[in-house]
Amino acid sequence: MAKEDKFGAHNYHPLPVVLAKGKGIYVWDVEGKKYFDFLSAYSAVNQGHCHPKITDALTTQANTLALTSRAFYNNVLGDWEEYMTKLFGYDKMLPMNSGAEADETALKLTRKWAYKVKGIPANEAKIIVCDGNFHGRTITIVSMSSDPDAYNDYGPYTPGFIHIPFNDIERLEQELKNPNVAGFLVEPIQAEAGVYVPDEGYLRKAAELCKKYNVLFIADEVQTGLGRTGKLLACDHENVKPDILILGKALSGGVYPVSCVLANDEIMLTIKPGEHGSTYGGNPIAAKVAMAALDVIQDEKLVENSQQMGEIFRREMKAVDSKMIEMVRGKGLLNAVAVKPNNGKTAWDVCLRLKENGLIAKPTHEHIIRFTPPLIITEPELMEAIEIIKKTFREFED
Ligand SMILES: Cc1ncc(COP(=O)(O)O)c(C=O)c1O
Repeated sequence: MAKEDKFGAHNYHPLPVVLAKGKGIYVWDVEGKKYFDFLSAYSAVNQGHCHPKITDALTTQANTLALTSRAFYNNVLGDWEEYMTKLFGYDKMLPMNSGAEADETALKLTRKWAYKVKGIPANEAKIIVCDGNFHGRTITIVSMSSDPDAYNDYGPYTPGFIHIPFNDIERLEQELKNPNVAGFLVEPIQAEAGVYVPDEGYLRKAAELCKKYNVLFIADEVQTGLGRTGKLLACDHENVKPDILILGKALSGGVYPVSCVLANDEIMLTIKPGEHGSTYGGNPIAAKVAMAALDVIQDEKLVENSQQMGEIFRREMKAVDSKMIEMVRGKGLLNAVAVKPNNGKTAWDVCLRLKENGLIAKPTHEHIIRFTPPLIITEPELMEAIEIIKKTFREFED
């Protein structure tokens, strides 16, 4: 910790625990103390730490062919592209590495489509985004942000975004009437903002309106996707199929940065050779790891488990009698507890105490604790973890 403080940039404020090992739903610190991992690396480790099928795919491919760049074909990428397009029902996939890069790719595709297909005048395209969004950290992405920590002092900002409140369908329709609007980018549940679940019907209505006004409905499922909310995609809760789907994080089961964008030909083929890319995007390790990670989600029925365990989590947490618990919300195993400070004790203090009691989680926006265990958690394990959380809140009642 001292080395990180001295030699590392101070762009994070980690909980004071130094992890050295992970297996399944557990991690161990350097002293050998075991914890339930209730962050799952911001939902990248949905399949659990060091899943043997995923690490096997990683190491086997690393020892065979790791990186070719896209200057040449490799003998794995096509298989992965076929796998993804069949599973999610799109014509094409574009592979990247981080979630932010995939979001950037979606924005570029939207703008290309605006000019090449919709016929918006050059450089006039607008993309609607929601207040409270989190799509990553690049200059363009923070230009869309309403969070001062993400936004301040990074100007000049990328223009071309229209901000509207999340979960406000009337306002969306108002803005969609602007003929220069090309896309509406939305997280189906705003996870980083504090797990804000929109009203039922919001996504469906938003997608219908986008269709009506010939605007692309773009879903950032980097965090909500791949079983986290109790469906393979959070959009599936409302049977919505985005025009552009963005995936990342758990697409690798947490062993490698893998992200991608899925869309149909009308959108995807607007980008021509040389107009976008990434040295590592679509490399053979990423391709093998992603297929293994998705196999695990399907073979181990993690989507169903997430749905069932999520119901239990919220039921149990809502029954806790604590002055500090203001609200419990979420879907599947993407949940949050809003914490009311008590005697000067905040969500951060609760997380410190949770750590002492054997469970790690992290506050988001000071008063919210996100609880997102790996989706492989069983009911007895979940009940044990819930006991730790209950006991911890009780300790603050004294
Ligand atoms: C919805 C969403 N989009 C994009 C990102 C950015 O992903 P990455 O950190 O891999 O760039 C995140 C990360 O938390 C996210 O939650």
